[in-house]
Parts: sequence; structure tokens; C-alpha cells
Amino acid sequence: MDQMRDPVIVHVIGRDAGFLSRLNAAASACEKEHGIGCRIGTVNRLGDVAKEAPQMTLIDLDSMSDAILGQIPRYRQQFPNTWIVVTYQQPSSERMLGAMRSGANDFLAHAPTVEELHAVLQRASQGKSAVSVRPPGRIITVCSNKGGVGTTMAAINVAASLSRRLPGAVAVVDLVLQHGDISVFLDVPTTYSVANVVTELDRMDPSYLRSVLTQHAAGMYVLPAPHAPDEAELVSAGQINGLLQTLRNCFDAVVVDTGNEYNEQTLAALDSADKLFMLTLPDLPSIRNTKRSLELFERLHYDPSKVVLIVNRHDAQEKLARDSMEEALGRPVQWSIPNDYVTVMRSINQGTALQMIQPKGRLVTNFDQLVSMHILDQVNGHAKPDSVDVRGKRSFFRR
Ligand SMILES: Nc1ncnc2c1ncn2[C@@H]1O[C@H](COP(=O)(O)OP(=O)(O)OP(=O)(O)O)[C@@H](O)[C@H]1O
Ligand SMILES: [Mg+2]
Repeated sequence: MDQMRDPVIVHVIGRDAGFLSRLNAAASACEKEHGIGCRIGTVNRLGDVAKEAPQMTLIDLDSMSDAILGQIPRYRQQFPNTWIVVTYQQPSSERMLGAMRSGANDFLAHAPTVEELHAVLQRASQGKSAVSVRPPGRIITVCSNKGGVGTTMAAINVAASLSRRLPGAVAVVDLVLQHGDISVFLDVPTTYSVANVVTELDRMDPSYLRSVLTQHAAGMYVLPAPHAPDEAELVSAGQINGLLQTLRNCFDAVVVDTGNEYNEQTLAALDSADKLFMLTLPDLPSIRNTKRSLELFERLHYDPSKVVLIVNRHDAQEKLARDSMEEALGRPVQWSIPNDYVTVMRSINQGTALQMIQPKGRLVTNFDQLVSMHILDQVNGHAKPDSVDVRGKRSFFRR
């Protein structure tokens, strides 16, 4: 058992007696096994006057209306240091995103295990003090809406290019949880994967994290997808959110391969992203699918300047194709990555980034420019290279 600590003061908002008794049972087991307990009190509404400021506020969304989420921002002003946790029986990505957007910090299962409660209590007790003093790193997600478009290749090479500019301060993460292949592309072991890190978030500080991740010869730290699909199933959207916040507290840039599936976990990553590189190919099926993704981002109210539309495997002479793509998508294509199958396959077969085999090649130059223009300029506070007009094509590309 760990050393005994002061109990965490928890306010529960909800009307489900069953949940409360499960919570109490897990709490007393947690105190016995881990030396961290909690003093649980129920309140009827968010913001009810309390004698003691809660360290953690737990909202049972199943027994309240969703309107309670709208009250969180005001509550946050009243208790700026409280760790706001939501719980509900039927997970849904929309609910989770709604809760996170309103300012919830965390998620707890409706029938929490002792370990799950322990992890949440740890995070709640560290609360604000766990926030590092360095400015948080940027999260760049690379996604597509169709298999084989090149998200893994792009994520790896964006990370490699960033690593040259920010040595030792870049991580690349594989969030294609069921069948991620960053570990194959970079030839790194999967012994320590996303599935392991998310269960240990409470003890993740920069030095521990660096010690468990593999640093690739190209400079970036690599966090592979889980080794087996059944491990992947256990990773929740709340954990992904926690993982990315932890990583951004440790690294200046975190590049995430979210692949081509939109599920709770990848949506949590897209939501956390500062930049979202949306990859497509210059063919009709890809463009049609990309349009659907762009519509989804609009529904999710993503700032248009967060999304960077990139055509992979594009040849300069296909100018007409780009015009038609822009017309079909109703927005400019902001970047093109050249088609060079032989070089890309060589890098994949050698388990490395392009810059390790062809440091002055056109693909490496292309990734360096992409990173300078769409990530680093903004990190350093320079003027934004492009503000996207989603209604029409931008003159920048027309030039
Ligand atoms: N710019 C490029 N030029 C030539 N070939 C490329 C380029 N980008 C990717 N490829 C090829 O396309 C294939 C798919 O790339 P990659 O695995 O990165 O795509 P993905 O979107 O991650 O696919 P998956 O859906 O399997 O995860 C690879 O075989 C790679 O060689
Ligand atoms: Mg892939």
C-alpha cells in the first residue's frame, strides 16, 4: 500500500443510489489498497454553496439533464481548482465531446473499478499543481477518410522534420488503436504502447515518459499502438484526452496518426488538436470522402484555420486535377506532397524516416516546408501563413 494521504473531498451530483453505493465501495477499497481515500458528499446542483471547496466534482450525467454541462463554465469560475469528472452508463462520443468542451477534465466509469477510481483520485489530488510551468506543446493530428492515403507516412515524416528543429522535444503517437503500424514503419518494439501509458498517466512526468518511450534515430519519441486488438478496446476516449494532455506537458510537439476511422478515441484526439492535417489523394473516391470529413469538422465547430487540407501523392503537372478538387471541396488545397513511391517504400522497408535515407530529397524538403509554414511559424508567434477562406479558393494557391 502507498503512504496514507488526506482524503480527497468529492462532491457528487446525481440521483442514482446504485452509483453512489458502487462509488463508496470502490472508495473504501481504494483507501485500503492505495492509501488514498475520499470524503464523498452529495449536492443537488452545480454551484450549491459548500463549506469546503471540492477537490473533485463528479457529475452523473445519466441522472441529470445535459443542461448541466452548460453550467460547468460558471462553476469552474467559482471553484477554479476542482477536478471535474463526468460519469455515464452509455458512452457516446457526442456526450464525451460535449462534456470535455464544457470544461470537464476527466471520465469515470459508471461501475468504477478500484484502479479506475484510484487513477482519477490521483489526478484530482494533483489537480492544478500537476500542470507544468512550460507552455504546453502543440498537438498535430494527421487523418484521412480512407485507407492507404498516407497518414502514417505523413505523421512520421512531419515528426521527423519537427525533431530536427526541436531536438528531443517531439513525440509521435499511433492512435490507430486496432491496427496501427507506426511501430512497423519505424521498426520499434510495441512492448510499451498507448495501452500501457494510459493506465499510468498519474505517474507520467517528462523524465519517466522519456524513459519508457523509444527514441528513434530520426529524433522523435515513439508511442506505438497497442500490441493486440483486445488491449486497444480497453482504451477510452477520456484516457486519450488525458494521454494527449500529458504528452503536451512533456513535449513541444506531439504528432498523432489518427488514421481514417472516426470513433470516440480519434474524435477526442481531433478535438484536442491545434492543427489537423487532413490528407486526401487526387482521386474521386478520396475527394468524396474528404468532403464528408470536412462537413463533420464543420459540425464539430472546428475553427477553419485549424484544418489544413493536404493532397498526398500529387504531381505538379496535374494542375487541372487540383482545380477540380478545390471546386469539389469548396476550399483550397493547402499543401501537396509529391508522389515518390520508390523512396517512400525504401524508407518503410528500412524502418525509418525519409530524412535518414534522402536528407536532401524533394519529399524531405516538402515536409520541412510544410512544418515551417503550418506548425513552426505559429509556434514562434510569427504571422499566420494563411488564413483560410472556406467559401472560396485562396489566391495564395492560385498564384
Ligand atoms: N507521397 C507518397 N508517394 C508515394 N507513395 C506513397 C506516398 N505516401 C504514401 N505512399 C504509399 O502509400 C501506401 C500507404 O501509406 P500509409 O501506410 O502511410 O497510408 P495510411 O493512410 O496510413 O494507410 P492505412 O489505412 O493502411 O493505415 C504506402 O505503401 C506508401 O508507400
Ligand atoms: Mg496507417
